[in-house]
Amino acid sequence: MDSSKVSGHLSMNGGDGAHSYAKNSSYQRGILEAATAIIEEEIATKLEISTNSFCIADFGCSTGNNSFPAMHTIIEAVKQKYESSDLKTPEFVVCFSDLVSNDFNTLFRSLPPDRSYKAAAVAGDFHGRLLLPSSVHFTYCSWSLHWLTEVPKAAEGLMSVWHGGDERKEVYDAYLEQFERDMESFLKCRAVEMVEGGVMALLIPSLPAYWDPQKEYTVGSLADLLRSSLLDMAKKGKLSKEKSETFNIPYHVPTPGEVRAILQKSNSFSLERMDSLKSGTLLNVDGHVAFFRAAHQNLLTYEFGAETIDETFDLFKKKLQASPVYADPSNDRSLVVVAILKRNNV
Ligand SMILES: C[S@@+](CC[C@H](N)C(=O)[O-])C[C@H]1O[C@@H](n2cnc3c(N)ncnc32)[C@H](O)[C@@H]1O
Repeated sequence: MDSSKVSGHLSMNGGDGAHSYAKNSSYQRGILEAATAIIEEEIATKLEISTNSFCIADFGCSTGNNSFPAMHTIIEAVKQKYESSDLKTPEFVVCFSDLVSNDFNTLFRSLPPDRSYKAAAVAGDFHGRLLLPSSVHFTYCSWSLHWLTEVPKAAEGLMSVWHGGDERKEVYDAYLEQFERDMESFLKCRAVEMVEGGVMALLIPSLPAYWDPQKEYTVGSLADLLRSSLLDMAKKGKLSKEKSETFNIPYHVPTPGEVRAILQKSNSFSLERMDSLKSGTLLNVDGHVAFFRAAHQNLLTYEFGAETIDETFDLFKKKLQASPVYADPSNDRSLVVVAILKRNNV
């Protein structure tokens, strides 16, 4: 199997992964709360659209658990903006978009009954065109852009850095370049689909340029421990040594500086605002294990087999328990970038 291709085996699209992810969605809910004020403010000040129908697209909606409150926030802010300008409230449609393997049935079964929008499903890879030209007024994409379309060629076959730092510069740079290429494809497609003056909110998990591993942790160091659990599984003869040593996961968690540099290069969008929020997840060890399991289970099952998953995550949990750093959620230095962009007039 070609483990370097991302589509189809990303987690959080169904099965146990989606289930435990839903149970741990407070991870992203806290972030959404922090981002809500930014999104409301930017809609109030930057959105310049008066139209009878208003289309919002959520790329990487998963099963909707975190998407529904986000769509509610956006729609209420747009309604307020229209009301304050004496404009008639538009009709809303939300295009929920994710990979074809996403569990859209669960999403549609759990749509909020009191919603004030029509709902549509749009399945496909968001690095390609998915919607009609000039049809989208607001684009939202949360916790999805760090997944890469593939493990970069330059990193294939190399002992992986598990993406927590830049100690293997060659591999790190290859990941960063792939992230940049993927972001550019995403922006290029959204530029076609969005109307002039439309607004885009991107929420991207991020890492500080430095953290003290003796006292602090990030989503990057958690990923390092998962990597080390896989290597331990190989030492126990439970996984292929060669495969676990060269296994690279297709995501890049960027620094805020990396995100800014990429967004500022766009000719189609202006970067109106970018904030780096502390992720403030407040997860304990069990919470981290459940969240990481939800996020990686499908991929690791695909790569190493379902029979390896329980033991891998038992080892991961033991590693977290063995380090006092992970016992205190206030040691978490992970960040979330909230970037607000506006489609330029061309
Ligand atoms: C961590 S979940 C985020 C869910 C939700 N947006 C949130 O903020 O909680 C990442 C989602 O992005 C989707 N995703 C990742 N890469 C994608 C791609 N290339 N095209 C479409 N969806 C993608 C995954 O399938 C998954 O549902």
